[in-house]
Amino acid sequence: MEPILIFGGSGGIGGAIARKLKARGEHVILLGRDAARLEAAGRALDAPTHRLDVTDAAAVAATMAEIAATGPIKGLAYAVGTITVKPIAALKPADFETDYKVNALGAALVLQGAAPALKAASQGASVVLFSSVAVAQGFSGHASIAMAKGAVEGLTRALAAEFAPSVRINCIAPSLTRTPLASALTGNEALAKAVAELHALRRLGEPDDIAGLAAFLLSDEAGWMTGQVVGVDGGRSALRTKG
Ligand SMILES: NC(=O)c1ccc[n+]([C@@H]2O[C@H](COP(=O)([O-])OP(=O)(O)OC[C@H]3O[C@@H](n4cnc5c(N)ncnc54)[C@H](OP(=O)(O)O)[C@@H]3O)[C@@H](O)[C@H]2O)c1
Repeated sequence: MEPILIFGGSGGIGGAIARKLKARGEHVILLGRDAARLEAAGRALDAPTHRLDVTDAAAVAATMAEIAATGPIKGLAYAVGTITVKPIAALKPADFETDYKVNALGAALVLQGAAPALKAASQGASVVLFSSVAVAQGFSGHASIAMAKGAVEGLTRALAAEFAPSVRINCIAPSLTRTPLASALTGNEALAKAVAELHALRRLGEPDDIAGLAAFLLSDEAGWMTGQVVGVDGGRSALRTKG
């Protein structure tokens, strides 16, 4: 069976995507950085793993070549990212560089390496990238991450055009979701409650809220969707219900 690669498969959203895909009988391969977390995630799902740092271009190229040598790939989710919340005065060049490398350049290099194997998939392939609600809505303190995720949205549309018609590429833009990445914010219950109240649906996201759309986009049911950025955000990007 042609595999679906989950970058960040040991993380909150990537892990939830992997569980949903595995439950519907897909062959998933998990990729991540920390060996122990990745092995634990792979063991839990009986799924193969590949450890890599997406900021290491040579490692990305080598890993993609190794996986592509085993045959076509029918899907890929790039659920790797950062949350940098700092006012512009506190941002260092290294913050901007890290956000850009992890979120945008890493996705581009992964798709560059995966392209031949994705295009070779027998029934077409699907890719899901991750932006953030902080691109559609301007939030104070989000300059660096909004810039990096804005680049991901541009990458989504550019490569959706370049890889059509054999590969569909879409992007999910979540609002604050309870994962390890967001724990500095969600771990403070008072802050989490205040942010939840800013959403029309009055709660923060859970990994399964986001994984549901990712699993749909990675299925044939989404066969006529490409080049889209879709918010899964409790209404945060479009609705104002207070004030
Ligand atoms: N959670 C939110 O509130 C939120 C909001 C908007 C957008 N997003 C986006 O949603 C996506 C998934 O985020 P998440 O919340 O699920 O984060 P998470 O729980 O921290 O998971 C991130 C995953 O990416 C891996 N990873 C991080 N840096 C890596 C690197 N340099 N090389 C390889 N793997 C790396 C992590 O592995 P290690 O654990 O080994 O580092 C982990 O498996 C990201 O693109 C994020 O920006 C999240």
